[in-house]
Amino acid sequence: MAGLLIRQPQCPDKKDIVAVYESTAFFDYSPSRPDLKVIAATVDSYFTELVTAPASTILYVANLDHRLAGFAIARKGARATWEVQVGVHFDHRKQGIGHALLGTLFEEMHRRGPAACKATVHAGNVASIKMVTQFFREYGEFPGLPGFLLFRTSW
Ligand SMILES: CC(C)(COP(=O)(O)OP(=O)(O)OC[C@H]1O[C@@H](n2cnc3c(N)ncnc32)[C@H](O)[C@@H]1OP(=O)(O)O)[C@@H](O)C(=O)NCCC(=O)NCCS
Repeated sequence: MAGLLIRQPQCPDKKDIVAVYESTAFFDYSPSRPDLKVIAATVDSYFTELVTAPASTILYVANLDHRLAGFAIARKGARATWEVQVGVHFDHRKQGIGHALLGTLFEEMHRRGPAACKATVHAGNVASIKMVTQFFREYGEFPGLPGFLLFRTSW
């Protein structure tokens, strides 16, 4: 896609990642909508983890025509399982950016060695389901979280 650059983030990107979270409809399929302070603290924690736990944190951002349009994060937790989240600014959706971010994330997770990966998606979140389906081998209901699906794969 012309004008799209997936790259590693830098500190000045924080406010633009927050803007992605703040964009229209971002939390439509989330159990709750966090306020700005919580979103900013969450983004701060991503950057802290890149320094304190680099082996278990991967963060990419997408630039479209030099403007930050999305991000993708993977964090490795218990049992060597990565958990992924992707976000694309409302103004830049449906152009393949989410798919490109997730593809780059998976390339890097694979490069880091054998592991499993999971993603939690609301059953009504068609865009996200379409985006993740080709990267995961299996999915099912999320135990204890009605309305959500758990996608899983391993390599
Ligand atoms: C999910 C999200 C990241 C997708 O980003 P995106 O850049 O629009 O995704 P893409 O353009 O790569 O599209 C991925 C697929 O979803 C489809 N799609 C995108 N938006 C859609 C919509 N609103 N309705 C139906 N399908 C949609 C695309 O056609 C594409 O399908 P294909 O692979 O069969 O062609 C974005 O909608 C978003 O940030 N949502 C809010 C946060 C969220 O739900 N994150 C997912 C949790 S992991």
